[in-house]
Amino acid sequence: MAKQKNVIAPSILSADFSQLGKEVDAVLSAGADWIHFDVMDNHYVPNLTIGPMVCKSLIDYGIKAPIDVHLMVKPVERLIDDFAEAGASVISFHPEATEHIHKCVQTIKNYDLKAGMVLNPATPLSTINSILSELDLVLLMSVNPGFGGQKFIDSTIPKIKKLRKKIDSLDKEIRLEVDGGISKENISEVSKAGADTFVAGSAIFNTKNYKETISNLKSLID
Ligand code: DX5
Ligand code: ZN
Repeated sequence: MAKQKNVIAPSILSADFSQLGKEVDAVLSAGADWIHFDVMDNHYVPNLTIGPMVCKSLIDYGIKAPIDVHLMVKPVERLIDDFAEAGASVISFHPEATEHIHKCVQTIKNYDLKAGMVLNPATPLSTINSILSELDLVLLMSVNPGFGGQKFIDSTIPKIKKLRKKIDSLDKEIRLEVDGGISKENISEVSKAGADTFVAGSAIFNTKNYKETISNLKSLID
């Protein structure tokens, strides 16, 4: 199956939280496709961010674009239910954060949402061999999770290429998302390696003109 349409998913971790609704509206009208929502618990990762209430308030504010929830929490089970009820469209979690990977994927799919698994830079692709065909998305971390604004880890490129081959051999619609340190300097290489879904936090929110930035990123992956 051919690569799917590209998706740009700004990570709101780098947004101005005092104006979150407006910031999300602004990146969407500037051409963003999804909103990447980083959930950190100060336990699985050393940082603390936002939870399901904030997701629900974005939905109540009128955000219609898919909310792509990246759970960096342990345990994950309870928060899957909470985010499903809060209006998430995609929920992804790390395999290290639960002993019941298949059950968590099942729970997400039972809500009719897209289920994703996230692999840290040192987590091998083989970790998800037995479940890959049941996933809607695989998210490869190109930084260690916990903070925005980190440098892209180059060894992610060959990992993307390998995963692209695995996905293509399955003939299923599985998105290949990459998260961390993506910018105008490397997005083209990430795309050529086989990614179709691109998270970018600081590279978008730390610029003044979101439209110019997102158009530029998109032009580099066409
Ligand atoms: C890191 C998060 C990323 C991060 C991306 O733990 O999962 O989504 O915020 O931010 P940038 O694009 O600034 O690396
Ligand atoms: Zn993320």
